[in-house]
Amino acid sequence: MTARTLLVTGGSGRLARGIIEHLLDRGEDRIVTTTRSPEQAADLAARGVEVRALDFDEDETTIARALEGADRMLLVSTHAVGRRPEQHGKVVRAAAAAGVGHLLYTSATSPAPTPLSPIVSDHFWTELAIFGGGMPWTILRHNMYAEHLLLFLPAALEACELRTSLGDAARAYVTRADCAAADAAALASRWTDHRIYDIGGPEALSIDDVLSIAEELTGRAVAHVRTTDEKALAAYIASGLPAGFPESALGFDVWARGGHHAIVTSAVRDLTGQEPEAARSYLTRKLDVLRTGRATVAE
Ligand SMILES: NC(=O)c1ccc[n+]([C@@H]2O[C@H](COP(=O)([O-])OP(=O)(O)OC[C@H]3O[C@@H](n4cnc5c(N)ncnc54)[C@H](OP(=O)(O)O)[C@@H]3O)[C@@H](O)[C@H]2O)c1
Repeated sequence: MTARTLLVTGGSGRLARGIIEHLLDRGEDRIVTTTRSPEQAADLAARGVEVRALDFDEDETTIARALEGADRMLLVSTHAVGRRPEQHGKVVRAAAAAGVGHLLYTSATSPAPTPLSPIVSDHFWTELAIFGGGMPWTILRHNMYAEHLLLFLPAALEACELRTSLGDAARAYVTRADCAAADAAALASRWTDHRIYDIGGPEALSIDDVLSIAEELTGRAVAHVRTTDEKALAAYIASGLPAGFPESALGFDVWARGGHHAIVTSAVRDLTGQEPEAARSYLTRKLDVLRTGRATVAE
């Protein structure tokens, strides 16, 4: 097989690191990562990964230089909600200028140009830029990470109450680890056509389903109080999420109410050969966090 250079952006992030670990495990010979913090990827450099400095807020020419030589490249979306179409648009144009052979992108389930959710719109505009970017592409639409359940479940278990405006909206929660495995498999593949994958868990669960699982595991019942968007936002703010998160989280919930996150596919199995982990199994592994409430955004 011909050797290729596989590039992953954002090498100090949790998802990107997981992807790079898979590439190393697979014995891929030329792995490059870009990051704003090369010092945080020093351990990867010591294991043979080429680490290049890059911030998507730099100009297109600088970005293109950092992407040179990549046969296949995975653009890991940033967390700068609202600014991502500009950041990612530059990266797409820079990738084309650098001669990248295939561009992959970590999107989200059901992207659309909606005023309801800046997260969802950001991914739509990025995908549109990629479709018109002139390179073959693969879109990896991640459903909501199961890790996010730990941001609110411990407090809800403590208070015996959870206020949301999600109604019966269901999501195919998927672990970050399964996303990383699927993304790595797609990056390391050799297909050259255009593809879209919905990366999700094995079943779509409503918040009531999640609370039933949590009750089974901990013995604690939590009442789901169905409230308005305004009150749900106030609850997110009161929960101490970092600035900007509550608004983004609420918009994403509103979008989920339209049924847009209840998408179950065989993508993880198709890409990795393994079944995705169910939310119940993930929460069972994280029982100590559920019980002790030591969840953080970094989980
Ligand atoms: N589906 C979901 O439920 C869900 C949940 C959370 C996040 N996400 C998305 O998935 C992405 C990865 O998640 P994660 O858990 O790995 O997040 P994370 O650990 O917070 O990492 C953030 C990532 O964004 C990159 N980044 C931020 N600003 C950047 C910039 N100016 N230029 C280049 N890269 C930049 C970081 O790269 P460096 O720091 O190495 O430069 C890092 O890879 C997030 O950024 C977000 O878009 C999805």
